[in-house]
Amino acid sequence: MRLLVTGGCGFIGSNFIRHLMREHPEDEVLNLDKLTYAGNPENLRDVEGDPRYTFLKGDICEEADVRKAFEWGPEAVVNFAAETHVDRSITDPEAFVRTDVLGTFRLLEAVRGAGVRLVHISTDEVYGSIAEGSFTEESPLRPNSPYAASKAGADLLVRSYVRTYGTDALIVRSSNNYGPYQYPEKVIPLFITNLLEGRKVPLYGEGANVRDWLFVEDNCRAIDLVLRRGESGGVYNVGAGQERSNLELTRSILALLGMGEEHIQKVPDRPGHDFRYSLDCTRIRSLGWEPLYDLERGLRETVRWYRENRDWWMPIKSGEFREYYRRRYGDI
Ligand code: NAD
Ligand code: TYD
Repeated sequence: MRLLVTGGCGFIGSNFIRHLMREHPEDEVLNLDKLTYAGNPENLRDVEGDPRYTFLKGDICEEADVRKAFEWGPEAVVNFAAETHVDRSITDPEAFVRTDVLGTFRLLEAVRGAGVRLVHISTDEVYGSIAEGSFTEESPLRPNSPYAASKAGADLLVRSYVRTYGTDALIVRSSNNYGPYQYPEKVIPLFITNLLEGRKVPLYGEGANVRDWLFVEDNCRAIDLVLRRGESGGVYNVGAGQERSNLELTRSILALLGMGEEHIQKVPDRPGHDFRYSLDCTRIRSLGWEPLYDLERGLRETVRWYRENRDWWMPIKSGEFREYYRRRYGDI
């Protein structure tokens, strides 16, 4: 299959491209990425020379860039390109509305014209927070951050193209991912790398908020399955059933590094902080998917990766990220 992947230089996109190259030797990939602060060509250094892989720098919001990508002749599109960090969406929401909503619209127009399948990568955050039980794909969308609202807007556009134009589009809504190549603004790589640098870890509020942690490779397998076997117009929740409070998560990371709770620095809570996300994953499981990693195994591999790949994260932490971190966390 000839696949257009957008946002392939980010965390999940780069893991997904590596997964494709490994699991589907017959596939060819065009990666369209704007290379924002979160897009890093280093994430795909190992596949760069592969004749099945092509990189195109471009913006999914720009019609001309999208047209150029479609001239390559993709048979399907997987859209990872997005602004993705909740805290940045609180201080600077405009980029989120632009890329996550307008960018998805541009891709929908292009797949409509070309008559090819779109797998749109969304998030559990579109449902909002749930105190007990789990969201199904039919639960109402009640996003609470500008990030989640922009992603929900994109999901609704996808739905409208399916209903109105019969576009072959599907949505994957996954829970929090973690693993190699995740930008260190997100909690797991931030905490691991801070500890490796001898810093403390900034825990929001009392650390009581709950997330369901999905190892990135498990998500890549789910997306791959939806791409090849998903029902047109379908929405698929993907979670690992590994719910932990942030304090429990932090204690696991500290334990893996042989460190104690004196390394935790409690900081003021995030405004509008969703308390808990939880997904009912009956539908994706009925396609034959199940997660292979529990949090303990996934965290062990992730900690090992960050320990062994300082050359990847140290330049990030001393670049754009340094100023962002200082403004946000002061001297923690
Ligand atoms: P990321 O922030 O690591 O990477 C985003 C990538 O998109 C970067 O390579 C960036 O350069 C690119 N990009 C941004 N704007 C673009 C534009 N206008 N045109 C082209 N490329 C652009 O993101 P991620 O964590 O890999 O997330 C990928 C997708 O998965 C997103 O849609 C996100 O909403 C979704 N998601 C992420 C998680 C998670 O835990 N990371 C969980 C659920 C869903
Ligand atoms: P994050 O990785 O930003 O993902 P999301 O907000 O999309 O779920 O945060 C995961 C959880 O960790 C969330 O409840 C907020 C919390 N958190 C902290 O306690 N400290 C931090 O410095 C960050 C970035 C997040």
